[in-house]
Amino acid sequence: MVQFALPRNSRVKPGKTHKAPAGAKNVKEFHIYRYDPDKKSNPTLDIFEVDLDGIGPMVLDALIKIKDEMDPTLTFRRSCREGICGSCAMCIDGLNTLSCLKPIADIKGPVKIYPLPHLEVVKDLVPDLTHLYAQYRAIEPWMKTSSAMPKRERLQSPEDRDKLDGLWECILCFCCATSCPSYWWNSHRYLGPAILLQAARWVHDSRDEALGERLDDLEDPFKLYRCHTILNCTKACPKGLNPAKAIADLKILVMERAY
Ligand code: SF4
Ligand code: SF4
Ligand code: FES
Repeated sequence: MVQFALPRNSRVKPGKTHKAPAGAKNVKEFHIYRYDPDKKSNPTLDIFEVDLDGIGPMVLDALIKIKDEMDPTLTFRRSCREGICGSCAMCIDGLNTLSCLKPIADIKGPVKIYPLPHLEVVKDLVPDLTHLYAQYRAIEPWMKTSSAMPKRERLQSPEDRDKLDGLWECILCFCCATSCPSYWWNSHRYLGPAILLQAARWVHDSRDEALGERLDDLEDPFKLYRCHTILNCTKACPKGLNPAKAIADLKILVMERAY
């Protein structure tokens, strides 16, 4: 009989426990995935007892305290601390989200933190985004024009500008793509919700003059049609966007031009 099990070297083993300082009164446990490629050993789950007194309310605030005061080797990405850069995305309490926008108080019991799922791990909470950025490059995310350059800027009516709402706000955090079961299994050929939402951002831009070319490129059984409208992507998006609808709209545009 076929056996489904993780390879031995990917099984997460118990790690170290880092105790809170004596006398700390407001302590919360953080269970954090650790993986160091240089150690050539299995990943572990380390426990950090964090004194929440004097720090900010978000999970990222606790991670920064852990790195500053308990274990400087803990590795994670972050930059803006206000949900703009998209770099602090991780899986917290079973959901992909931005650690800078996730209140610690929302989580009952220990805070469990893993890297975004179904990606190679570079170290600890840092996933390898190389493939996602290659897919982003492949949709040519810039304005393409063939008409003569106007004397001033290319104009857009307020109504046409409104069509980009719900698309331009995407911060490429990839919480959606890494929540999508179809992307888990087909990421080598399916573009996934983050990249398709970005593709939609250019398809709906009235100033872009490559609509036909863009739709030709998307009309592919894998690139676009591996979306099965499961909606995990929309549930995961920390910016409140709706990648599933963006994908459905792309499918309609591709279908409409056939008739
Ligand atoms: S709606 Fe499509 S893109 Fe979103 S999670 Fe489901 S299959 Fe993935
Ligand atoms: S659609 Fe939302 S979840 Fe997906 S990459 Fe953009 S901001 Fe992140
Ligand atoms: S640190 Fe920039 S989005 Fe969280």
